[in-house]
Amino acid sequence: MSRVVNRTAVITGAAQGIGAAAAHRLAADGYRVAVLDIDPRGTKVADEIRLAGGRATFALCDVADESSWAEAMALVHRELGPVDALVSNALVTDGLPLHELSVESWNRQLAVNLTGAFHGVRACLPDLARSGTGSVVMVASVHAWFGLPGVPGYATTKAGLTGLTRQLAVEYGGAVRFNCVVPGPVLTAQWDQISPEDRKQSASATLVGRMGRPAEVAAAISFLISEDASFITGASLAVDGGWSVGKKSS
Ligand SMILES: NC(=O)c1ccc[n+]([C@@H]2O[C@H](COP(=O)([O-])OP(=O)(O)OC[C@H]3O[C@@H](n4cnc5c(N)ncnc54)[C@H](O)[C@@H]3O)[C@@H](O)[C@H]2O)c1
Repeated sequence: MSRVVNRTAVITGAAQGIGAAAAHRLAADGYRVAVLDIDPRGTKVADEIRLAGGRATFALCDVADESSWAEAMALVHRELGPVDALVSNALVTDGLPLHELSVESWNRQLAVNLTGAFHGVRACLPDLARSGTGSVVMVASVHAWFGLPGVPGYATTKAGLTGLTRQLAVEYGGAVRFNCVVPGPVLTAQWDQISPEDRKQSASATLVGRMGRPAEVAAAISFLISEDASFITGASLAVDGGWSVGKKSS
């Protein structure tokens, strides 16, 4: 892949996990990187990128809050200039069946995971559309496509992101590309509370026989966001080690 010159990428939920891996990867690709997160530990990710010779800044941002986006974008413009690429990745989840899920939890999952993407695109769109090479990647999940017990809020938001991606690709086709990655099980802090047995089961449900690494999702994000993917828009790319195509049945 050719090295990116003079482009700025904004990544949400980038203090850890897949978002942090995407921040590091896009910085290595040559982007100036804005690390956005509600968690102030995102400063560490920006510091690490700068130490490695890249350009990065951290902006405290609650993606669910429009005014927080306005403040973050003012900082990004000041520090890094206009935005060329957006990775919408932040999430919250609550592993409860619908009858046990509070309305507050349901609303918060929608607000962060789905409305957060809406706010992010709206905040970045004027910048993204200006050059004709703007690019957005949403981070969805295999939960968008498959029902698994106990995650009605999360699955709904992830299905929403795949729909939103197609819709925005249609609406802004000539000006901005919109794609999403659809990860399967990827070892991040999201798995901290999950037992070794359940992790093993998820790993064995993939065709490659292991869980994914955040850097492997970041590599797919890097491709879709880049000009190497200039003829790809509205796509949902599974990054799941074959989880979604292999089923055990006799
Ligand atoms: N880990 C997996 O197995 C897996 C599988 C499929 C999809 N995904 C998707 O990948 C993405 C990243 O997941 P992860 O596993 O790296 O999660 P993670 O929990 O490690 O990181 C999520 C980040 O989002 C941030 N965040 C939460 N609320 C926020 C808000 N309101 N505003 C800004 N930032 C906020 C958190 O502080 C955290 O840094 C998510 O969209 C998730 O749905 C993950």
